[in-house]
Amino acid sequence: MSLRILVISALMAFAQATVMAQPIVIKYSHVVADATPKGQAALKFKELAEKALPGKVEVQVFPNSQLFGDGKEMEALLLGDVQIIAPSLAKFSKYTPKLQVFDLPFLFDDVAAVDRFQSSAKGQELLDSMTKKGIKGLGYLHNGMKEMSANKTFRVPSDLAGLKFRIQSSDVLEAQFKAIGANPQKLAFGEVYQALQSGVVDGQENTWSNIYTQKFHEVQKEIAETNHGVIDYMVITNAAWWNKLPADIRAGLSKAMTESIKYGNKVAYDEGESYKQKIIDTKKAEVVKLTKPEIAEWKKAMKPVWAKFEGEIGKDVIAAAQAV
Ligand code: LMR
Repeated sequence: MSLRILVISALMAFAQATVMAQPIVIKYSHVVADATPKGQAALKFKELAEKALPGKVEVQVFPNSQLFGDGKEMEALLLGDVQIIAPSLAKFSKYTPKLQVFDLPFLFDDVAAVDRFQSSAKGQELLDSMTKKGIKGLGYLHNGMKEMSANKTFRVPSDLAGLKFRIQSSDVLEAQFKAIGANPQKLAFGEVYQALQSGVVDGQENTWSNIYTQKFHEVQKEIAETNHGVIDYMVITNAAWWNKLPADIRAGLSKAMTESIKYGNKVAYDEGESYKQKIIDTKKAEVVKLTKPEIAEWKKAMKPVWAKFEGEIGKDVIAAAQAV
């Protein structure tokens, strides 16, 4: 073998080894700020996955709709442009009607109840409800209960009649606002602040951490502690991509995901309420606690939504959620 051939072979072997040594790039995209339960969980996943699989994976986290916003991120996942996303459970109806159960108003008293349902057999089954569509659920992740905000003071649902409310892309939430005589408008999360500021919409519903980190309180007059629903997530991946990963990488990523979800959930439990105080401290929007009779009015006005979606969601799913 001539020296020239030897050198070329050595160079080719080196190039191949270099290519093989390239880490698998995993893009984790989401729409909220780093300083939220989901933002913290995503960063924790990066830390744990890269520590467990050094040189084998590189996790790139894109917060605040930087890479993809609502509406685009699911398509991007299926096209392989992003590998992990964690949409709110309100954003899956195109892929499975069952997850709409999480949007039913006043179904869950608190996040602990949501957790019990998610951990139940029925809740775990829902993680696999989109496999045929190419989506694999890696786990549920908490944010918190939703509060109602508007550009006027209000106590009971009839005070909001005729007002325009931004909602996530959910038909259940659309029905919920129609039930109280308001006008719901589906809008991507990244557009909400601008829409509130410019008066395109008058109000919205969200968790304390989302309201504070997006500064919604600066462009709203009042936030009422309605706790009428929940914003939680399913962390999902592209099933085909996931199944093709080498077994050791998949196992390492699974473990990192489980741990990162635990971490994000702890942030949700421990810090969720602290954002309420932060909002109060800004002295911008007024935060009001509602009386029991006022809350009863909200429940009564929104309850008809359940019957409307019972068929689509499934009585068995609703019953399992109620049982917790
Ligand atoms: C929203 O659109 O209001 C939320 O789903 C955003 C999020 O991901 O928490």
